[in-house]
Amino acid sequence: MKKNGLLPEHIAIIMDGNGRWARQKKLLRIKGHEAGAEAVREITRECAKKDIKQLTLYAFSQENWKRPKREINLLMKLLKDFLIGERGEIRENNIRLTAIGRVWELPDFVQRELSISMEQSKMNTGMVLCLALNYGGRSEIIDATKKIAEELKEGKLKLEEITEESFKKYLYMPDMSDPDLLIRTGGEMRVSNFLLWEISYAELWVTDTYWPDFRKSHLEDALAEYANRERRYGGLKE
Ligand code: IPE
Ligand code: IPE
Ligand code: MG
Repeated sequence: MKKNGLLPEHIAIIMDGNGRWARQKKLLRIKGHEAGAEAVREITRECAKKDIKQLTLYAFSQENWKRPKREINLLMKLLKDFLIGERGEIRENNIRLTAIGRVWELPDFVQRELSISMEQSKMNTGMVLCLALNYGGRSEIIDATKKIAEELKEGKLKLEEITEESFKKYLYMPDMSDPDLLIRTGGEMRVSNFLLWEISYAELWVTDTYWPDFRKSHLEDALAEYANRERRYGGLKE
């Protein structure tokens, strides 16, 4: 059984509450997203410093296309600016940037900057920063299933070769370890279609703090609680 008391290797975050943060301050929602980008910077730097192996951030869900066009356009522009603006920071912190989700459906100007950032950082050996963009957990499972069906049809794969381990190889990031800790800000008690396959045994930690207010001290709180959790994986107390 995996011992706790340690740092999580992989942290995933549902960064929620940008809109409510802005409303509370009588600002436009986009101001909340801008302030949220600042929190991303700080938390990424902190996690890299702490030797977290992977940080996966839910930045845009498939369901977020339901939002007004104006908000979506501003979010995409913010994402592009973030990708360009963070290249120095990514390099200095030896971070490798990756993405999960149906990224091929994102606007071209986002895809372009994303591939430049990924290409520039691909040799970095420190923390993996994975952005979930146009991501949906059910879609990820469907996309994996389609690849498997294709290989079965072509005779490259046998039915009995489909196992939990081999299934993982068809997900968006085959090499990633499952998140140990899933943080959600903004207080909602739901997973909103995030990493459905991967969070099967993640420890959950929800805070009412809105994402733009989330800082190093909140991260420390989550890590302290994680260190106190006993991960039994269905087994018995040691
Ligand atoms: C999360 O904040 C950011 C994205 C989903 C892009 P929200 O925009 O969902 O903020 P709330 O939940 O309305 O406060
Ligand atoms: C989840 O937040 C998605 C992201 C943080 C990108 P939402 O605000 O979209 O989720 P719901 O609507 O509360 O489920
Ligand atoms: Mg929300």
